[in-house]
Amino acid sequence: MRHILWIFLFVAVTGCAYQSDIAADTAPQQAVAAPDTFSANAAMAVLQEGGNAVDAAIATQFVLAVTLPEAGNIGGGGFMTLVHDGKPGFLDFREMAPGKASRDMYLDANGKVKPHDSLYGVRASGVPGSVAGMWAAHQKHGSMPWSRLLQPAVNLAEQGFVVPEKLARNIERFVKKGQEKGLSNNFSRYFSKATAGSTFVQPELAATLKRIQNEGKAGFYEGKTARLLADFMQQHDGLITEDDLSRYQAIWREPVQVSWQGYTLVTAPAPSSGGIAVAQWLGMFEQAQQGMTPASHNSVEYIHLLSEIGKRVFADRAKYLGDPDFIDVPMAQLIDDKYIARRASQVNPAAISDSQSIKPGLHESEQTTHFSIVDKWGNAVAITTTLNLGFGSGMVVSGAGFLLNDEMDDFSAKAGVPNFFGAVGGKANEIQPYKRMLSSMTPTVVLTPNKDVALVTGSPGGTTIISSVTQSVLNALHFDMSAEQAVNAPRFHHQLWPENTIRIHSGIDEVKQQELQRLGYTLKQQNFGDLQLIKRTPEGLDAASQRSGRGLSLVEAPAASDQ
Ligand code: DON
Repeated sequence: MRHILWIFLFVAVTGCAYQSDIAADTAPQQAVAAPDTFSANAAMAVLQEGGNAVDAAIATQFVLAVTLPEAGNIGGGGFMTLVHDGKPGFLDFREMAPGKASRDMYLDANGKVKPHDSLYGVRASGVPGSVAGMWAAHQKHGSMPWSRLLQPAVNLAEQGFVVPEKLARNIERFVKKGQEKGLSNNFSRYFSKATAGSTFVQPELAATLKRIQNEGKAGFYEGKTARLLADFMQQHDGLITEDDLSRYQAIWREPVQVSWQGYTLVTAPAPSSGGIAVAQWLGMFEQAQQGMTPASHNSVEYIHLLSEIGKRVFADRAKYLGDPDFIDVPMAQLIDDKYIARRASQVNPAAISDSQSIKPGLHESEQTTHFSIVDKWGNAVAITTTLNLGFGSGMVVSGAGFLLNDEMDDFSAKAGVPNFFGAVGGKANEIQPYKRMLSSMTPTVVLTPNKDVALVTGSPGGTTIISSVTQSVLNALHFDMSAEQAVNAPRFHHQLWPENTIRIHSGIDEVKQQELQRLGYTLKQQNFGDLQLIKRTPEGLDAASQRSGRGLSLVEAPAASDQ
């Protein structure tokens, strides 16, 4: 009781920032926020059987490869941020460029970027990383048998699942887009039977998953699956070889860790731009707010302030960020307190700065998917994973039944030319053999001062991921919203270019929109998401999936037999 009293006094003195510390005395709970019902239920079943958050995450990742083909995958890649036994960690299972890739591979004879090559067809694919990632996570932290964790995915592929309406609609849209653009792929052959309400079976995918189930990582990167993939590449003039597959390694990296409003943010380092960007965004916001009347949520002042900060964040992203195994990323300098304070001091809270004048500072639903898990021991896992655009390259490996990514578009095909998400880059992110393309994916865990998990968050959305994650942290912890409010509150995004353009969710008040336009902004309506967030409150865990998606969040006490 005295313990609780001291914490109460501490909270009273420091404001709302450390509320979650009082949750230490609540009964154990476990929570999942996942992008569909199949994956959420599979994750919770693992937790209820006594598995930990990493076990549940592995089961979730494989189920999503079956039931959320827009982004769930074994033919793509992703990042995992975790806190396990109190220790922060980060696993990079991002795709890498094939050995035969080269800097100018997407340029025509006149040096112009060819419009479709990095986005559609097998030449758009990087060497997949997801299976290696799940295997590495299991080797280090798994507590249940690998084979058990693959079983739900095998069952769903073999016996089928009832196709949700939103998936059927996305499939129809993708087929239509392919026809309009005159793309040739084998997507329809595999997915046209997946109509709303029908039971969709995927026998080739089931066989591939069984090889992974029985042989582990080798079931994908060697033997039959590797041969099927390499042959498929050869038949379609693609670049990935069996040698590329056997070289692929998931990499444990040091996560970005920064203090913010008394919390510790644990988030994604390069080759993600996301963690550094979120740290900069939150850090500059905190600095810029000093001595000002606090900006209220989604007010004109707030949107303007975060937009001005975003311009600086994206100028640095374009210049400095890429695969740290190939270039020197000045990570410590980019998140250094003095640097952040200097950049924040250049923001004019009342006027828009000229985009041309914003230079890098040191020297001068399309688809992806995310899920968040907390187990009864307080371990947390956040995974963001992707094929890049919805259904990736649109190419399914014949005989192996899985979609390949189109992640090569995240490289900078030519310095200064924007990619699909409007992100520009230069030398730091140019294509080189075996290099990993820069990402915006930002799986994030936030810890309280005594290292309890306060928040687990992440989102799809290309470059808007960075805004979604930043604003979800602000919503949940700075504005103390519930999980449900935090994921559904309208968001906005500024990424320096196009000049003075804010992408904005529907739902931001009309009058505020007019004021922003008067200030000189052009507003573009766009939906971001879908956020999957778990927050610790004094009453226990609170989880939510953004309503616009087809996700499910679950909070349960551990099974009585397992406590
Ligand atoms: O890694 C990245 O930043 C992108 N490939 C993510 C793509 C994405 O989020 C598409 N989604 N909505």
